[in-house]
This record gives sequence, structure tokens and C-alpha cells, in this order.
Amino acid sequence: MTDIEKQLTKMGGWRLGFLSQAQSHSIDALVVEGKVPKWLHGAFISTGPAVFESDGQHVDHWFQGLGMLKGFYFNIGQVGFKSKMLQSDTYKHQVLGEPKPPEYDDGNVTVFPFADKGSAMTESLVDCSFDPKSLKTTGHIAYQGELDVHLTLAHLVVDPVSKHYVNVGIQFGPTTRYFIYTIDTVSCKQDVIAVYESSLPFYMHSFSVTNRYIILFQSPLVFDIEALMSGGGFTEMLTKAEGAPTQFVLIDRETGESTAILHEESMCFHQVNAIENGDTIVLDCCDVDRIDGYADGLFELLCDPDYQVIPAYLKRHTIALRSNSISTVQLTTSALEFPRINDAYAALDYRYVYAALTEGSHNFFDGLVKVDVEQRKDIKYYRDDCYFGEPIFVAHPDASTEDDGVILSLAFDAVRNRSLLVVLDAQSFTELAYAYAPIPIPFGLHGHWFST
Ligand SMILES: [Fe+2]
Repeated sequence: MTDIEKQLTKMGGWRLGFLSQAQSHSIDALVVEGKVPKWLHGAFISTGPAVFESDGQHVDHWFQGLGMLKGFYFNIGQVGFKSKMLQSDTYKHQVLGEPKPPEYDDGNVTVFPFADKGSAMTESLVDCSFDPKSLKTTGHIAYQGELDVHLTLAHLVVDPVSKHYVNVGIQFGPTTRYFIYTIDTVSCKQDVIAVYESSLPFYMHSFSVTNRYIILFQSPLVFDIEALMSGGGFTEMLTKAEGAPTQFVLIDRETGESTAILHEESMCFHQVNAIENGDTIVLDCCDVDRIDGYADGLFELLCDPDYQVIPAYLKRHTIALRSNSISTVQLTTSALEFPRINDAYAALDYRYVYAALTEGSHNFFDGLVKVDVEQRKDIKYYRDDCYFGEPIFVAHPDASTEDDGVILSLAFDAVRNRSLLVVLDAQSFTELAYAYAPIPIPFGLHGHWFST
């Protein structure tokens, strides 16, 4: 056990959810308390850092842990469970001693469906493919196309126009070029649809797409190219460019022209939804005031007894296209992160955001929240001693309203030192069922619903 692990163990509580865990499990039917709707058929698969040692040393940052895939499988009210370390080339190098791969490929941030496969992604060029049924790693996603970039984003967006995925690739140089490209979900063919050039290599974690615009968020958080190229850690490769602007960049998909709209200094890791509405764009984002908020995942800070996760707030930015002006309102006083919506409402008028809640009393994600952005009202959900991961929404097959469905979230019970799946009714935001996994699973990042 490393000194950091000893410290986390001694402090207990939610910090136990940051201890390494590499166990593979495959269980056909977990013990379910309550009732899982029988219409729910498919798999909730997520990824996240799970092993925090490399060469006998504890890594510096949460995001540097090697990825584990977790799957909950739903079949007529029963819930199966699987966990498996992603067998990336990076894992094989760090754990099994195989040669170092040319590209980092450990997909510990997001998962997305690609035809009959899953893709486990990080911000590198190479993404692991896996079998959604077995969680077995099956190599890499074979992208087709000549995209000359150094990094991509880990959050894909579904294009409301083509229904393909859209992503952003970053090419460093005297000028940093951001290539926005579509990816055919079956052939994996990549096609560039727009290019944005910037004098600063600004960092982005997510973006939005509407029928007409690509929307990037440019903050003073920039890449330290030297540290990046020399293989520096997550925190070393990012730095603040003093005096650099914070701005939304709108790229017109028809003309390729870009427009920058200045905003007060802030950082946004997760854009939630963007809607075109005549001459305005409504853009909802999880904003943080501190540019260096990413550093909160440093284990050195997580071991601080006064640690409190940086609060992010759901804000609505209304951009007037004719005047290039922006007005911002906060949609709820709740501090939240890991926002999700009913994906069928992406780029459309919508009403509900689901997210992990940070109330502050426990210093970590100690609840879930449903925000009605129209009525500006919240419904909150808590469970004793539990901390929560990203809530995903799954629609009822015959849904007649936006919130007709369920919410699934992988939680951590700090007293039982065990993880559990919680199933909520998305309309009332009340608990329908829960099922404990056989192991404590380290706090993960993002997941997706895989239809089967
Ligand atoms: Fe993310």
C-alpha cells in the first residue's frame, strides 16, 4: 500500500472510493432491492480510473488512473454485473511490463457505442474498442480518414444534422488548429467539417453542436506544449495564460466563419445543451469560477482534511447573434457536475438536466439532482453515506414526455465500502431500486446506455 493509499484509508468516508481496485467480476443477477422496470433492457456501461499505481508509485491525479469498465445488464427486472480492467496497450505496459505504446490509449474518461462495439476514450488519438456484452477489450477503433492532429476531445456529440458523431481534433503548431469532424458510427470514417485557428493552444473538454453552429468554449486554460510533448502529467500539461480571454467561439458550419463572444473569466468542463432560437443561441453549461479547478483531482489535495470539491453551477448563456452580446443567468443555486440530459433532446428545446450534486456537507458528490430549467426548480435525491457518479437518463420505449424514463447512477456506500447501482424514476426523481455490486468501485467518470 502506498503512503497515499494509507492516508485515504485512514481518513475513510468518500476517500475510500479513491483506492485502487482491479477485480474482474461477472454476476448474472445481483440482489435487487425494490423493482427495476421490466421494460429496461440493455446495459449501463461506464469507465473510470481504477488503478492508481504505476511502477510502484502512486499517480498524482485521479485522471491518471488506469481505466476499468463497469457494466450493469438489465433483463426483465433482473440486473447482471460485470467489471473488467481495460486491456489497453498502456495498461499492458504499466502493469504487465510490455513495451510502451507509441500513443497513450487508456480510455478512462468516456464510453460510446459504435455499431456493435463500444469505444473507451480519453483525449488521445487512439481509442480502445470493447465488446459491450463481455467488456472484453477487442483492440482499437479503426478510424478511417486522414486527420493530422495531436489530441482529440473525449466527449463526442451527436450531430443533429447527420446523426453521426462529431469531435474536435487539436493540431499544435505556431497556430493551434481545431479540426471539427464527423465520425460515421458504423464505418468510423472521419470527415472534417470546419477548422478554427487560435493563437493560443486552449484546452477544451466538451463542446456543442446545433444545426448551424459548432460552439467551443475558450478559456485561459491552455496546454503547456513542452510538458505535453515530454509526457508530463495531467496537471503539468495545463497552465493558465494570464490575460487570455474567456470566450465562446461560434463556427458557422455553412461558411466556416467564426465569431468570438467575450465572457467573464471562467472555465467550463461540460457544456450541457445548445439550442438555436431565431437570432439567439441558448447555451447551458456547468461553469466554475476557477481556471485551475482541474487540479482538485490531485491526490495531494484529496488527502487534505479540508478538501472540498470545487463547486460548478448550471448557467444559461443567451447569445444574441446580431449584436454578438451575451447575457448569463444561473439556473439553480445547487452546485453540481456531470450533467446529463435526455439525449433525444440535444440541440432541441428541453427542460431537464440531471447531475451529481455537491451540497458541501460531505465535500464530495453526495447526492443527485434533477433541474427543471424552465421552472427553475430542483428535486434532490440522497442516500445515507452514499456518494454518486454521473446520472444517465434512459427513456421509456413509449415515452410521451421528456422525463418519462429512469435515471441510473453508480454510487459508493462509504460505510459498507461497497458500490451500488441506484435506479430512480426520472419524473418523480424517487428511488425505484438499488443493487449492491460485490466490490467497492473507484469513482468513475462517464457512462452510456447500450441498447441490446
Ligand atoms: Fe467529462
